[in-house]
Amino acid sequence: MNNQKRLPRAAITGLGVYLPSKILTNNEIATFVDTSDAWIMQRTGIRERRIAGPEETSLTMGLEASKKALVSANLTGDQIDLVICATATPEYIFPSTACLVQDAVGATGAGAMDLSAACAGFIYALSVARAYIVSKMARNVLVIGTETMSRVVDWTDRSTCILFGDGAGAVVVQAAFDDAPALGEIESVVLKSDGSKGCHLLIPGGGSKMPASEESARDRQHYIKMNGPEVFKGAVRGMADAFHQALKMGDLQLGDVDLMVAHQANARIIEGVRSRLDLPTSKVYQNLERYGNTSSASIPIALYDAVRENALKEGMRVGVAGFGGGFAWGAAIIRWGNVPIIA
Ligand code: ACO
Repeated sequence: MNNQKRLPRAAITGLGVYLPSKILTNNEIATFVDTSDAWIMQRTGIRERRIAGPEETSLTMGLEASKKALVSANLTGDQIDLVICATATPEYIFPSTACLVQDAVGATGAGAMDLSAACAGFIYALSVARAYIVSKMARNVLVIGTETMSRVVDWTDRSTCILFGDGAGAVVVQAAFDDAPALGEIESVVLKSDGSKGCHLLIPGGGSKMPASEESARDRQHYIKMNGPEVFKGAVRGMADAFHQALKMGDLQLGDVDLMVAHQANARIIEGVRSRLDLPTSKVYQNLERYGNTSSASIPIALYDAVRENALKEGMRVGVAGFGGGFAWGAAIIRWGNVPIIA
């Protein structure tokens, strides 16, 4: 059968990340808000996070991650059909950050769009990439998660400023036509949402409801507002349920999964998901101690570190799950391939 008649599979073939070099430790945060390294470690598992320098933005970080992902996939920008950028901290309201990346990588024949699903953005973007590929609307898709959370965090609010960090990750998703199960294949994806809970995690100002004004700036309305316990409960329930559903959709059992990479929000949330799923601790990957919550970038950054540390190897099945503002959440099951890591 020729490639025209086969249904393509969507496979991850490239992966890249970018992290700012500036490190902000818990002890440093404790010098400007009333907190401590011990409290933050015990309640979140986070020890330090990366903070963008003055020249670093969601575009510059997303672009560097994208360039590495393209090299990793052995592709050039002009071979990309679609650029999807998941971000809650875009370069501008418009043009989209995806269009800016599209131009900078020379993806001259590609469509480009930003995707808004907060910390679940990477899973959402992955699902769009997969849908475009299996429906033959695209062959090569660049998926980016990039966030400059430090610019929307209220550095006077100790309940939120301890949680977030900056960074970017990108993957290349390609059509694979092999008869055998394609390595790297995104086997199943599930997306969920509950807009009735949107009030628990939001940035009230800067949109059409509350445009920037002296008053909105004075009232700190352009920063993250969060009801921590509600987000916590939603994240544990949502990620565990989506994980189960993604397994079911792929006709798989829990035992078929070798590794879980959940959104790196909080070690206690990840432990809650693990325990709800009844997964052994050895199958859970975590790197949030070093980076905090990088929102839509957290999953690709964690996948990158897992590969680098040999925790994620060719042939393994990895389940990824994300949760964020909206509420929006989801999960995907990926049969990991040979994805080269570019330093
Ligand atoms: N240092 C010291 N004390 C603090 C701090 C801090 N940084 N932050 C809050 N506290 C205090 C509170 O003021 C409160 O004091 P009180 O009892 O005197 O009123 C006390 O600690 C307990 O506060 P809680 O909010 O109940 O603490 P909790 O154990 O729930 O932990 C946390 C708070 C870490 C925010 C938790 O609710 C959480 O992780 N929620 C999920 C939030 C999250 O991950 N959001 C990211 C975006 S969404 C996502 O990515 C999933």
